Amino acid sequence: EIYLQGLLEDRVPPYPTDPARLEEAARRVLAAGPFGYVAGSAGTGATARANREAFDRWAIVPRMLRDVQHRTLDREVLGTQMTAPVLLAPIGVLSIVHPDAEPAAARAAAGLGLTSVLSTASSTPLEEVAEAAGDGDRWFQLYWARSPEVTASLLARARAAGYRTLVVTLDTAMLGWRPQDLDQAYLPFLRSIGIANYLSDPVFRAGLAKPPEEDPFGAVAHWAGMFSNPGATWEDLAFLREHWDGPIVLKGILHPDDGRRALDAGMAGVVVSNHGGRQVDGAIAALDALPLVAEAVGQDLTVLFDSGVRTGSDVVKALALGARAVLLGRPYAYGLALGGEEGVRHVLRCVLAELDVTLALSGHAHVDDLTPRDLVRR
Ligand code: FNR
Repeated sequence: EIYLQGLLEDRVPPYPTDPARLEEAARRVLAAGPFGYVAGSAGTGATARANREAFDRWAIVPRMLRDVQHRTLDREVLGTQMTAPVLLAPIGVLSIVHPDAEPAAARAAAGLGLTSVLSTASSTPLEEVAEAAGDGDRWFQLYWARSPEVTASLLARARAAGYRTLVVTLDTAMLGWRPQDLDQAYLPFLRSIGIANYLSDPVFRAGLAKPPEEDPFGAVAHWAGMFSNPGATWEDLAFLREHWDGPIVLKGILHPDDGRRALDAGMAGVVVSNHGGRQVDGAIAALDALPLVAEAVGQDLTVLFDSGVRTGSDVVKALALGARAVLLGRPYAYGLALGGEEGVRHVLRCVLAELDVTLALSGHAHVDDLTPRDLVRR
């Protein structure tokens, strides 16, 4: 398609296909605060770099003459038939990069038969995003509020709006130490961006002295006191089970023992993730944790993966190392910054196209064929 447009219309793609050039293009259109918030990571950036270096340490070993004429990327994940094993990771506050924000990302994913995971920290109320996703599969990511009543209310709203799978993010009991944001004193939440799901919540509003329209700062202060639940323990997962009847997936798992605990707690899956290196500087690369967690629980739990996925080749490596599907983070936020819904679609189509080409050239007609034996460690 791209080459034909070049030939027939003398046109190059409106956005870069290379992930590093995509980030650079987004940097040029965004103000320093929003760009730093998206691109930034914890501390010295050691874990964000390690996420990428871990991908570079694995090499694909292509096989020949295996009939790859008829290929499909289809995969079933937790009862959902997906056109490819790629989801949009939950990213909050997307209105800082583009006014169309989360609904545009949800539309782009749904249009391609893919699932997007909506963040609790969305800049758009969850009901509006559900409408934008149309018939598409909806997953909701929970930041576990300190108030059980507010948590229960968010979950009830998400279920009523048709979200089927719950992703509970465990690695953000507080925000990581993020020098890019600290040096610019930039935190979207303090500007009421990313708290739309609370401001639209009747239980949250009932706890306010004045309506948020009259006293926005009071609402932000109330939110700041409850957005996370650092006292939560494994025993508390029973509360979420009681308030959610669909599959629950724990995001931010890096230790095989935590994978086993997720299984014991009746969870349906885990996301092996270090939040894109945004939380613990010096933490293990997510891809290094993946085979260990997959070995511990991959037979019994759905193991998903994120942190560092940039290309179709990365997806092949993560699947070969035991991920049922991967979540894509920053690249789609850059696509959104550059071109709204169309920009997200461009980023997703590039990843899927490269995934298809890489699979075919490596001798695989289907993602199910991938195993650790298709890789070697450098
Ligand atoms: C995130 N991430 C995230 N995760 C989550 O569970 N809830 C959220 O609200 C957010 N918000 C968020 C904002 C921004 C700007 C970024 C970059 C990331 C983490 C996200 O879901 C995912 O784990 C990482 O982005 C994956 O790493 P890569 O693909 O960005 O390297």
